[in-house]
Amino acid sequence: MHTTASSSPYNYRVVRQFALMTVVWGVLGMALGVFIAAQLVWPALNFDTPWLSFGRLRPLHTSLVIFGFAGSAQFAASYYTVQRTCQVRLFSDGLAGFTFWGWQAVVLILLVTLPQGLTTTKEYAEIEFTGAVWMGIVWVAYGVVFFTTLVQRRVSHLYVGNWFFGAFILVIAMLHVVNHLAIPVSWFKSYSIYAGATDAMAQWWYGHNAVGFFLTTGFLGMMYYFVPKQAERPVYSYRLSIVHFWALISLYIWAGPHHLHYTALPDWAQSLGMAMSIILLAPSWGGMINGMMTLSGAWHKLRTDPILRFLVVSLAFYGMSTFEGPMMAIKTVNALSHYTDWTIGHVHAGALGWVAMITFGSLYHLIPKVYGRERMHSIALINLHFWLATIGTVLYIASMWVNGITQGLMWRAVNEDGTLTYSFVEALEASHPGFVVRWVGGLFFLTGMLLMAYNTWRTVRGGVTESRIAALQPQLN
Ligand code: HEM
Ligand code: HEM
Repeated sequence: MHTTASSSPYNYRVVRQFALMTVVWGVLGMALGVFIAAQLVWPALNFDTPWLSFGRLRPLHTSLVIFGFAGSAQFAASYYTVQRTCQVRLFSDGLAGFTFWGWQAVVLILLVTLPQGLTTTKEYAEIEFTGAVWMGIVWVAYGVVFFTTLVQRRVSHLYVGNWFFGAFILVIAMLHVVNHLAIPVSWFKSYSIYAGATDAMAQWWYGHNAVGFFLTTGFLGMMYYFVPKQAERPVYSYRLSIVHFWALISLYIWAGPHHLHYTALPDWAQSLGMAMSIILLAPSWGGMINGMMTLSGAWHKLRTDPILRFLVVSLAFYGMSTFEGPMMAIKTVNALSHYTDWTIGHVHAGALGWVAMITFGSLYHLIPKVYGRERMHSIALINLHFWLATIGTVLYIASMWVNGITQGLMWRAVNEDGTLTYSFVEALEASHPGFVVRWVGGLFFLTGMLLMAYNTWRTVRGGVTESRIAALQPQLN
């Protein structure tokens, strides 16, 4: 079992496991995304079957991509980064292995329960009581492995990427526990301890910070390790990285109310959420600029290196979605965008453009290293993947902008006598072409993901080459 322990100083086994499952959940979660996108074009694809209906598969899509794909990616990247930057083996092979199997069990619980309609109904926190408790246990184990490794480090310096991973782990633990406080009535049914507007506020405090920490902070940790590595340049500004770290984590936590504009939430709370969201633009762009500028003197590498292209384009989408988000948080803009496809486009600008693309770049860098290969099986396929992912993302978000603004304007149009100009169904008909384009964009993105799965399989088949890991050690560090 532990051939790795003697010949490699690091625990790469758990990194390999999480990296492969990132690809598996990526394929499944995105295939489901394409399927539910098709359901919005051809509603007959619900097949009149409850567990195939859009309402049940949509939360399954979000859970598989967020917890399966993005979660596994962050486990892999954080375990890899913390060992190499602290120059010490991960604390406890056993506990690290437990986090792998435990986390896969979490995703399986979601896979089995959500299609049956077993859900808390809280978005991104749908996992029912027993599953939520299990998830909490696994997360605590993750924290123990990560932070003990940090404590045992052989270098005095604490690399900034680890700050981001550490904040991600701590804040997610806090959000998960607070939002999941509930009274169970059976193994898979519970009732939230909060009621009414308080429940909504707890949920969107969680929901927004799930975005801020599960889909942003951990990925910034990834950015701080893999962009400088792949560009072979030091981080542009270490000072900026610390300033934007503290600003980001202290601001994100206040922005949740922008999800509840014009609701029963007190008006002051909505305005506070709006103000904090606008200020959030500054640290977000601080991070984006720091990543981009790390390429100073290395821009020419973009011509030949598709991995670097993935990393840089992900930063461009990060910058774009963190500009769009603060704009949508302005109450008058939100009055138009809320409930429309504009939100869906914003979500996927972040999810496809930022989260998925930085993951692809990082994994293409990491997989060969933890398997003892010099590079991925095919660089041409990485390049093709890059173009499919970029075109797919652009098709997705452009169609959703058009749809979102069309819907918002049609819903609010009134005749002189005060009656509505358009019925809801007319707005839906106008959205149909956009739904088709989004589905095509999704197909592009999924095809790229399938190419990655093939490329990964060709790279890793034959197993781990420990002697190569040792021989390549100078290049690998
Ligand atoms: C092939 C790629 C993908 C396709 C085709 C796709 C498609 C979809 C569709 C059709 C919806 C429902 C939209 C609606 O209710 O009107 C959705 C929702 C969502 N997807 Fe995806 N998706 C993809 C990838 C991803 C990835 C990689 C992530 C995250 C890392 C993600 C995160 C989400 C989230 C968070 C929502 C809920 C948005 C909201 O409630 O506002 N998706 N997706
Ligand atoms: C400064 C950064 C950001 C701000 C201020 C921001 C703001 C917003 C706003 C105002 C909404 C619409 C709320 C509504 O009308 O219901 C929203 C929705 C959303 N954003 Fe962002 N956003 C930011 C960055 C991001 C990033 C980088 C991602 C993804 C990685 C992301 C993912 C989401 C998701 C998933 C939703 C949909 C939530 C839901 O209703 O289910 N956001 N964001």
